[in-house]
Amino acid sequence: MTDAHRSDIETVLTENRTFAPTAGWSSAGPGAEPVTPHVASMEQYREMHARSLADPEGFWGDIANELHWFKPWDKVLDWSAPDAKWFVGATTNLSYNCLDRHIDDGHGDDLALIWEGEPMDGGPEVKRFTYRELRAQVCKFANVLKSLGVKKGDVVTIYMPMVPEMAIAVLACARIGAPHSVIFGGFSASAIADRVVDANSKIIVTADGGWRRGSIVPLKDNVDAACTQCDTLDHVVVFERCGNDISWHHEPSNSHGDKRDHWWHDLMQAASEDCPAEHMDAEDPLFVLYTSGTTGKPKGIMHTTGGYMVFTYLTSKYVFDLHPDANQVYWCTADIGWITGHSYIVYGVMPNRVPTIMYEGAPNHPTPDRFWSIVERHKVTHFYTAPTAIRAFMKWGDNHPRKHNLQSLRVLGTVGEPINPEAWMWYHRIIGHEKCPIVDTWWQTETAGHMLTPLPAVTPTKPGSCTLPFFGVDAAIVSEDGVEQPNNTGGLLAIRKPWPGVLRGILGDRERFIDVYWSRIKDASGEPYYFPGDGARRDADGYFWIMGRVDDVINVSGHRLGTMEVESALVSHEAVVEAAVVGMPHEIKGTGIAAFVTLGPGFDADETLRKQLREHVGNEIGAIAKPDQIRFTEALPKTRSGKIMRRLLRDIAAGVEKVGDTTTLEDYSVLAKLRESKEG
Ligand code: PRX
Repeated sequence: MTDAHRSDIETVLTENRTFAPTAGWSSAGPGAEPVTPHVASMEQYREMHARSLADPEGFWGDIANELHWFKPWDKVLDWSAPDAKWFVGATTNLSYNCLDRHIDDGHGDDLALIWEGEPMDGGPEVKRFTYRELRAQVCKFANVLKSLGVKKGDVVTIYMPMVPEMAIAVLACARIGAPHSVIFGGFSASAIADRVVDANSKIIVTADGGWRRGSIVPLKDNVDAACTQCDTLDHVVVFERCGNDISWHHEPSNSHGDKRDHWWHDLMQAASEDCPAEHMDAEDPLFVLYTSGTTGKPKGIMHTTGGYMVFTYLTSKYVFDLHPDANQVYWCTADIGWITGHSYIVYGVMPNRVPTIMYEGAPNHPTPDRFWSIVERHKVTHFYTAPTAIRAFMKWGDNHPRKHNLQSLRVLGTVGEPINPEAWMWYHRIIGHEKCPIVDTWWQTETAGHMLTPLPAVTPTKPGSCTLPFFGVDAAIVSEDGVEQPNNTGGLLAIRKPWPGVLRGILGDRERFIDVYWSRIKDASGEPYYFPGDGARRDADGYFWIMGRVDDVINVSGHRLGTMEVESALVSHEAVVEAAVVGMPHEIKGTGIAAFVTLGPGFDADETLRKQLREHVGNEIGAIAKPDQIRFTEALPKTRSGKIMRRLLRDIAAGVEKVGDTTTLEDYSVLAKLRESKEG
């Protein structure tokens, strides 16, 4: 870091510096005429925001009219806490809005999707799809699903690498009204089996493998292993990506005598390109996506069709300032296996008729400038990534982005975790050349889309703050008893009104849905607020500063994990009697995972076991959940009532010299032993 950079950060931190919108900025891409931003001033933002809260039905009804509906709604919103119904009585189809609407409007030959594979031998492998080409593939795969017996309402599991076929598969599901359950390719066989069983899914779409940092991720092998742990799967559809050796299951897997494994290309060959879009009720489920909570079991977050479509469309349009015909090229680096990829690679972007990029692999393959070479090659105008990636780029050095022409960039975005001001400044300077507004977007799997966010070149930004609420979002900082907190006082973040993208439930668990989101905070009249699980404060300008989770969920590299999930994985190992997992500061990941483990008799607390335990967690959940630190300890610190003192463990994992209040600690000798336990 240069001295100038360091002193700049100090100024930011000490003076709470605000970055004013860049004068004369336009989100139009290179060579295009400048475009007028959708929102031109803070005054306009405030007026629109006020209207969205005072008259949500009028506001969202107007927005929804920008999209295609087979049948209009009778009522925009039906709200009876905790159940929101949006666009009641309307029918639509999201794949139709992503594809057919543009083809019908004469834009069938416009670019819809650009894909780049990871291997670089002889240059990158790039594929491009127009709306017409993409629709043809989507319709074919929709017919494939039908031919395998998938009907409206059946859950289709998707466990794929970042190849165009993954986008094709999700859009095909949306086309026929089969909710998808996408599982991130980094999850293990056990994680697949849990999710398949929970959703009672009979079909999984996968690939022989996927490329990641030069190696093949054995997706089909993981699915084979998952099939031995659950017996609901009748069909496994395999896309051939890597040509690696895989085993093939020829036998029927169900009583109908259907064979289990099918090649994607065999099924596609016979399928027709014609598949009319199903007329979906606005409240028909669109997908389920599993995310971590405070218990050991991930929960299936449910989103429906109409509200999700309108909310992700509008947030994409305003937060990135998307305009068709302005030479924009949008790239979100997330995986479609996470909500960010669902909403901001596919569903929110495509209805805006701006081409979206999918990249298959790692940011540093074959060299740490891979992302910047993609930006240069495809003239990317909009770039959306996670703070953890930015911190990794900082570490790899400025010379990598400096090798490339990044002049096409117009808007930079971040998501997934709080961004530290150092990373914000680096992004602003080295990637944005101090010309690109940064949108730090706070939201969650449950919210479907952006909730607290700047609008580019409109909202003055402060490094580390996700700024102000999006339209329709009534956010507050409250105490445990629901009382709004004064400025600059930390509290719980709460959302007071339903917005179109609000989750509609947790699959199969109504009680948990109410308990987790709609019970903790209530106003004086007993009306529940939505509780996201984050702590935050608001400053004197009304800007929100997220302080992190207030529950036992940690955010590792922007990925959400329940500490209980990792604990359950650890105690399922024969050597482990008890385990406690906490987050700890990590230079790149933001939060790392520290595990305190008590072993059973006869097991040696050594490096070999430490390695085994890490691998075991990897097998139970996935590589993202492997602890960064495992400390063996004879006992865990507990209160007299038997609760593990996690705050104390957090202090120890963070290397804090003076640990927090220990007055309720049952056995003081544990503390001394813990301090002696070696990290590793
Ligand atoms: O703690 C917040 C953090 O990520 C959580 C949501 O995680 P997930 O459902 O996996 O969705 C991630 C992608 C939307 C939130 O409860 N988080 C997300 N964005 C931010 C953030 N924390 C601070 N600033 C953000 N911009």
